Amino acid sequence: MNNSEKIDFPVQVAEGIYWVGSHEQGTHLYCNPYLIVVDDKAILIDGGSRSDFARVMMKILQVGIDPKDIVALIYQHYDPDLCGSVSNLIDICENPDIKVLSTRDDKTFISFYLQKNRFRLIENIEDYGNTFTLNKRTLRFIPTPYAHTNGSFVTFDAQTKTLFSSDLFGSFSYYKENIFFDLAPQCYTCTTLEKCPDGKEYCPILAMDQFHRKIMPCEKALHYAMSQIKKIEIDTIAPQHGNILYRRKDIDFFIDRLGSLDKVGIDGML
Ligand SMILES: [Fe+2]
Ligand SMILES: [Fe+2]
Repeated sequence: MNNSEKIDFPVQVAEGIYWVGSHEQGTHLYCNPYLIVVDDKAILIDGGSRSDFARVMMKILQVGIDPKDIVALIYQHYDPDLCGSVSNLIDICENPDIKVLSTRDDKTFISFYLQKNRFRLIENIEDYGNTFTLNKRTLRFIPTPYAHTNGSFVTFDAQTKTLFSSDLFGSFSYYKENIFFDLAPQCYTCTTLEKCPDGKEYCPILAMDQFHRKIMPCEKALHYAMSQIKKIEIDTIAPQHGNILYRRKDIDFFIDRLGSLDKVGIDGML
């Protein structure tokens, strides 16, 4: 049984925030779009790939949101695993005023997912002062350049202290039993990640190290992103891949770990 069969329903992450993701069959990449519900309206963050579209939409309906009430689609960078379904989403939302929000730099590439007559729907978060407010709920956008695209950013919901971190804090793998992170007490001081002292097959710390070494371009970009994230008081980190971090101890641990991770991208090759 794969994970999408195990968790075939939306999962509440924080007040008004729902995981509406699925497991990409045939890969280990577990994609996590998130729906933020404010009164009877909603915002979708990193909406998912084309092949995820039907499953994501099913979960949005299960939350009780009519697609017509989605007012904004936020894309924290331009990769196909989060942007692939943008055209399908615009079609099904049938909202002529829907906004597709991203950075000026990422907009260049996101436009390639759309027909020309829809380019006007893409708006720059910079033009909103790096914030977006829906019925008094304000999301703040924090630039994390080159982590991993030039226009990458993360999104902070002050009301629930949730950080939507896109590829940051992601993993290629995930706990199969649960979408939430579950680090054992002895893991924080473990020095033999390649060979788990407890005999477990999956090491979530190693998985996160490997993901960032592969996906991020260099140490400087990753360390800078962590220095910006460290300034924020966060209760939950909701990444686009892997598991959701919800314990302060785990959040601090991984901010510090990724903030000094070596052999990242080109730095691990030269
Ligand atoms: Fe990406
Ligand atoms: Fe991704």
